[in-house]
Amino acid sequence: MSEEIERIAVMTSGGDSPGMNAAIRAVVRAGIHYGLDVYGIRQAYRGLVNGDFERMETRDVGGIIQRGGTILQTARLPEFKEEKYQREAIRHLNEHDIDGLIVIGGDGSLAGALALHRRGVRVIGIPGSIDNDIWGTASSIGVDTALNTILESIDRLRDTASSHERVFLVEVMGRHCGYLAIVAGLVTGAEMVLIPEQEVSLDEVGEVLEDAYLKGHSHAMVIVSEGANLKCAEIADYLNKHDIGFEVRITILGHVQRGGRPTAFDRLLATRFGVAAVETLLEGKSGVMVALEGTSIVTRDLEDIIGKQRPINPDHVRMADLLTR
Ligand code: ADP
Ligand code: F6P
Repeated sequence: MSEEIERIAVMTSGGDSPGMNAAIRAVVRAGIHYGLDVYGIRQAYRGLVNGDFERMETRDVGGIIQRGGTILQTARLPEFKEEKYQREAIRHLNEHDIDGLIVIGGDGSLAGALALHRRGVRVIGIPGSIDNDIWGTASSIGVDTALNTILESIDRLRDTASSHERVFLVEVMGRHCGYLAIVAGLVTGAEMVLIPEQEVSLDEVGEVLEDAYLKGHSHAMVIVSEGANLKCAEIADYLNKHDIGFEVRITILGHVQRGGRPTAFDRLLATRFGVAAVETLLEGKSGVMVALEGTSIVTRDLEDIIGKQRPINPDHVRMADLLTR
């Protein structure tokens, strides 16, 4: 790689998240503004390993800021942890004379970015994942949109739950991180939230719901993070056997949470991250992720981020305990 940056590439990786397109747009247009040639890599590390590169111009990213998903598509390639695949990726970057790579994705994707940096590739990460599990940034691209989708879904479920005097067990995404669940619980006024960071027993869930029934609640909402120690099905079995008063229904929100038009917050965050990533490359930095700290965009060393679990905000847990039961 030359010292001078003339040609950069951008890719989206891992689970898609609303706002990734806004970030691609910002990278392409900022890159062109600074006189760079910009390439898009299709389907994440798979495209990198297969040499699936295409030149991107200003017009290629027109009309995408409002679209969910990613025009570059994404993929998961577990083999990218292996040296053989990383070397193949570097060969293709060199073949295309790429001086800097921007990786938009979650913690796995950023681990791939770090692996490339350690092998001498100039690389910048942009946090993009609905899970909000990336250490060192207040938010990742897509979190706000996913939360709004969850919020709208739970508001709708509440209408039918109260009409039928039912408890709804609503599973939300987040992998090993309870962020989406706990914040969704706070903003929907759920009776209970189950997160991976805090184990609960079936008896505890039963007690909370029976208590809500005896207090005369017309319905109850339990938000269950997909990584929580209890699954919706086993909770439903338990509640049905113990007759807590309410009828029980399960809703798995699933991939609905990953799609849709990005909110204003996510579009702005993605735009700021995209521009900052290009400018950070031009400053000569590598092996860093752009991040949100307070209202500012900062950079963090990937070495300090990868392998760390973003902790759940204790204030969120405290407020959930205080308000939701
Ligand atoms: P996310 O980026 O959303 O967390 P994954 O954890 O599935 O999603 O990671 C996306 C991709 O990043 C993986 O399919 C793989 O190609 C790459 N990747 C993940 N972990 C590593 C690692 N330790 N080293 C190199 N590449 C990795
Ligand atoms: O990381 C984003 C995420 O949506 C997680 O919340 C979820 O566990 C996972 O991806 C689902 O992955 P897939 O789309 O491969 O089923």
